[in-house]
Amino acid sequence: MRGPCNHGVETDPSGDPVNTAVPQTEDAGAAASAGPTDTLGTSAAQARSAVLEELIRKDPGRFRVLTGDRPTGRLHLGHFFGTLHNRVRLQELGVELFVVIADYQVLTDRDVADNLLQHVEELVLDYLAIGVDPARSTIFTHGAVPALNQLMLPFLSLVSVSELNRNPTVKDEISHSRQSAVSGLMFTYPVHQAADILFCKANLVPVGQDQLPHLELTRTVARRFNDRYGAGSAVFPQPDALLSSAPLLLGTDGTKMSKSRNNAITLAATADETARLVKGAKTDSERHISYDPATRPEVSSLLLLAALCQGRSPEQVAADIGSAGAAALKKVVTESVNEYLAPIRARRAEYGQDRAHLRAVLSEGNERARAVADATLAEVRAAMNTCY
Ligand code: TRP
Repeated sequence: MRGPCNHGVETDPSGDPVNTAVPQTEDAGAAASAGPTDTLGTSAAQARSAVLEELIRKDPGRFRVLTGDRPTGRLHLGHFFGTLHNRVRLQELGVELFVVIADYQVLTDRDVADNLLQHVEELVLDYLAIGVDPARSTIFTHGAVPALNQLMLPFLSLVSVSELNRNPTVKDEISHSRQSAVSGLMFTYPVHQAADILFCKANLVPVGQDQLPHLELTRTVARRFNDRYGAGSAVFPQPDALLSSAPLLLGTDGTKMSKSRNNAITLAATADETARLVKGAKTDSERHISYDPATRPEVSSLLLLAALCQGRSPEQVAADIGSAGAAALKKVVTESVNEYLAPIRARRAEYGQDRAHLRAVLSEGNERARAVADATLAEVRAAMNTCY
């Protein structure tokens, strides 16, 4: 293969190229026997995730994970049990972790990204509090990595307008958008997200179901880039989704837990705030507490939350409460959440005292991400014959 355009490409302090390719996981796909691996329907992704878990346990060093969040406010328990705790688990297993603070993505559904710096710092605080270790993992903002954005243009050329148009997550976001007109970024941000993932050649992306369409698009972009420009070798891996096994938590109003719907319990909430939020949560009039997500979604989501915090099953939690009613359920939920989050909240408060440390974590992460992105861009330019 052609060598990368080398101007401006850095090596890490050890002198090794920073952009070490992570091996593909074709054997995972073959073993999953879950149909074509590029059609990441939920059940296929679940089957594949089980196989991937096995491969991760055996050889964590072959995986590089990229995942991230929009800096629109503090992270909540839906994020935590959906994906955050999984990141730390992977880090502890020895997988290399990149976490993007997706600042440009904030502008998909609003005109102005308010209080961006504050929200970015809140996210860094949340990450540190849950145990993301900046010595082993890279936390960065994609706005600070210009080469990542430069990947977006060639990537955009690889997807059709109708593919962008039919993305179900984008459709859902448009219906909840606070803009009167839908911006071009709303349609194209999944391609930008592909660049988030591919600039560091991540081969594993822990996600919730809503992100599966974006991951499928990322795989499409990687495959098409390799086919069109790879001259027989793969420039990009086709990353796998690692689906969280935790079912979706509902917000206190019974709809999807979301920062913008004011129905979320944040990691940073105080014990009193947590009690107040849980107290106001929607339930039903049945006194006997049972776990039945289909017919009793609100009660079941509360049971699930308590169960996740207690490390038990929701059925066991329900059996403890029996016919004591919703007030007893809420008491159990509040106590479970507050007990589980106490150490995380204590760490968060501690890190919050040291703003200089937060800034340093971010600038070191940004620097590292820039070096990786520069190396990938050089490879892309070489593959596309645009080294001038
Ligand atoms: N779209 C994700 C969200 O809304 C955030 C995100 C940006 C992301 N880039 C990513 C997630 C790359 C996984 C991989 O939460």
